Amino acid sequence: MPFENENTYVRMVEAGKEDEFHRKYEEALKEVESYFHKEYPNIIKEDIVESKKIKDISPIDGSEIATFQLASDESVNKAVDMLYRSYKNWYNIGYMKRALTFLKAAGMLSDQKFKFAAILTYENGKNRYEAIGDVDEAIDFMRYYAINLIENQGFIKLTGKAYKNEESMSVMKPYGVFGVISPFNFFSIGVGMSSGPLVTGNAVILKPSSDIPLSLYLWVRLMHDAGVPKEVLAYVSGSGSVVGKHIVENKKVAGIVFTGSREVGLDIQRRSIDNGPKVVITEMGGKDAIIVSNKADLNKAVEGVARAAFGFAGQKCSACSLLYVHKDVYDEFMKRLKERTDQIKPDDPRKKETFLNPVINKEAYEKFIKLKPEYNKGKILTGGHELKRPGFYVEPTIVTDLPKDAYIARNEIFLPVLSVFKCNSIQEAIEDINSMDYGLTGGIFTEDPNEIQYYFDNVEVGVLYANRKSGGSTGSMVGSQPFVGWKLSGVSGKGTGSFYYLMQFLREQSQTIAH
Ligand code: SER
Repeated sequence: MPFENENTYVRMVEAGKEDEFHRKYEEALKEVESYFHKEYPNIIKEDIVESKKIKDISPIDGSEIATFQLASDESVNKAVDMLYRSYKNWYNIGYMKRALTFLKAAGMLSDQKFKFAAILTYENGKNRYEAIGDVDEAIDFMRYYAINLIENQGFIKLTGKAYKNEESMSVMKPYGVFGVISPFNFFSIGVGMSSGPLVTGNAVILKPSSDIPLSLYLWVRLMHDAGVPKEVLAYVSGSGSVVGKHIVENKKVAGIVFTGSREVGLDIQRRSIDNGPKVVITEMGGKDAIIVSNKADLNKAVEGVARAAFGFAGQKCSACSLLYVHKDVYDEFMKRLKERTDQIKPDDPRKKETFLNPVINKEAYEKFIKLKPEYNKGKILTGGHELKRPGFYVEPTIVTDLPKDAYIARNEIFLPVLSVFKCNSIQEAIEDINSMDYGLTGGIFTEDPNEIQYYFDNVEVGVLYANRKSGGSTGSMVGSQPFVGWKLSGVSGKGTGSFYYLMQFLREQSQTIAH
């Protein structure tokens, strides 16, 4: 069965429908206002209203979008008990029915993609191109995993005949209940992290980031409408430190899928050991680097670096926040990168021409300000200021001449801030990259195929690109670029949107009948 990426914007432009793209998105921006200023329940088969609440705030202007629940311990336990009782029925309907339900749901999401994209603009501040790409990626994950399950016939295989009177097979079965704790930066990550365990016959309790509860709430409703039983997909909102922690500590939860910060990811791993055994799949960010060689096409490199560093305000796990530029081209390249960056002005993401959106929330905005003494440990080539207007807008910032161990050069800060180092060689840059704790994405710009091969052979990073002008180190596509972290960036070693992803949610059972 062929898998095709959704890729809405590119396809519509190719079909001469760019105006229609803008019209549909702009209509959706108005339409989704009907979802705002309401209170949304948790979904544990029934709608559950809690005594404590959380607020969904828009980074565009700091206004309140909607009210959500802070799930109590009792609600989490109730959800897990229900899921635990129900997952076998869901598994037993067979892989084909589960996969077909997912394909149907993917089609339903595709029909509503502009609505979801508009909600993402309000909820997490994405401009229209990033927002539609995020929804496309969610659709891709749902389809890709369904197709992967069908192509592998549910991962059920006849095995050898040990004795003449025996028939044997290997059946890959679900573990039970997975807790999914998803990040703010991608709707698609929450969808993909839930779809993997669910399509393979597990049950899922989804706790989205408190910054984007609405889009994932609507997705859960859509999944139920598509035919996923309410008994195997529950939705609870609330903070990670309260609700997420309680999910991890529930002993009936067989596995956790988490994407977020390193501190929380490591804490989940420790708690999972104490409350396990659990399967733990954690993606814990990155400190992603691009290398610009003296053999690079500098035009390509400038565009690729600017997009990777400042796209979605540096809040992609794949964002480039570290740059190594070969000394022979350093001055020329940095001059051009500064010129390009100075064209990027943070603004309201609803506008057609906005590239740089606000950062996600007040904490991120304040972090940008708090880190100023760290920028000043080097030389601020451009940027360094926050905007004094409603919402959370900060300038794209480039810092050079930093000490090697500078805080902003060694830690994931999730802001549009790029630390730049001059290097003597590709080898030197790679050694530095390999000395980091992280290993998620990376890129190189060079026209020399030997340098590309050397880079691929030696860099300890999961997702690599050479000469990607459209995104530098960002923009992985489901089915083409498995998204996988090495070292502290991720422990599973299997990428999302990859052929190997589903295996993580299945345990093998050997079945033999003698006659
Ligand atoms: N998949 C997204 C990218 O590659 C990020 O997390 O940019």
